[in-house]
Amino acid sequence: MPVAPSSPEVIARAADLLRAGKLVAFPTETVYGLGGDATNDLAVAAIYAAKGRPQINPLIAHVAEVAALDPHIEWNDTARLLATQFWPGPLTLVLSRKKNCPVSLLASAGMETLAVRIPSHPVAQALLKAVGRPIAAPSANLSGKISPTTALHVAESLSDKVELIIAGGKSTVGLESTVLDLVSPRICILRPGGITREQLEKVIGPVETATHNAHEAPLAPGMLPSHYAPELPVRLNANSAADNEALLCFGPAAFIKGGATRLNLSGRGDLEEAAAHLFAMLRQLDDKRYRAIAVMPIPETGLGAAINDRLRRASLR
Ligand code: TXA
Ligand code: MG
Repeated sequence: MPVAPSSPEVIARAADLLRAGKLVAFPTETVYGLGGDATNDLAVAAIYAAKGRPQINPLIAHVAEVAALDPHIEWNDTARLLATQFWPGPLTLVLSRKKNCPVSLLASAGMETLAVRIPSHPVAQALLKAVGRPIAAPSANLSGKISPTTALHVAESLSDKVELIIAGGKSTVGLESTVLDLVSPRICILRPGGITREQLEKVIGPVETATHNAHEAPLAPGMLPSHYAPELPVRLNANSAADNEALLCFGPAAFIKGGATRLNLSGRGDLEEAAAHLFAMLRQLDDKRYRAIAVMPIPETGLGAAINDRLRRASLR
């Protein structure tokens, strides 16, 4: 199994592999990423192939620091402001590609825009610095499946498709970055994630949220409705569970009836804790011994918006 705990030697080896066009999975604070040299068409094509991802769904380019983006995207004032406030961290900005941007057009799925992010995880930071090139990295899972928050999750589905998986502990945020479109006339959240709408609005004022039917397919193809899908059906807003269902709780759950087994996203009803546990617990409950996964209601505020977004997609077939 190609899993290696992070160390300076492993980072150096990973950087060499990436520069040679190979794929390396690495930890970020949101989820683990499946990285490839974003400036290498073949490496980017290999990412799509490894995930079984449609090539109409563009990838995020990751760099270690703000200045590293200058050759790639057209800055604007809003982007500068958000970069200062939220980077490094779980925010992705969609901006116009610069003329002669060296990032593969395939990473942009042929569009004029590029999604960019500066992750805060120390291993991701060290790796990006060592490579010195933008790294295209979708979540390191098969397309449509649950995103990985540990190296083991990555190994379960991609070990024969990557050269190396760098282990760096559990992803602390546990949900993907918020994807914010800064190119369209109105600033719009294409994917709710680790930075909440409330946090963004404090800095830049009102933002829109793309809805499933309103979005234009080429703009936010990652908003394909069914996603994050466990094998079992997912039943939302459960106020009780059947004896053959697995129950995913939120908050004090002593009063709720039923369930063959139960896990609690956060016994004290904390949304940050719930976000960090969500994907790992969905994986744990996704067991053929049960008929379905029933999920207790989760408030729609703050990180709850992103948690509910993932759960809704997990419940679609
Ligand atoms: O937290 C994250 O963002 C993780 C870590 C590894 O950084 N990455 C991640 O990548 O979640 P991925 O590929 O699973 O999701 C990227 C999302 C997709 O919904 C995609 O459609 C959207 O970003 N996206 C990428 N480039 C875009 C662009 N140019 N325009 C609009 N949406 C874009
Ligand atoms: Mg993904």
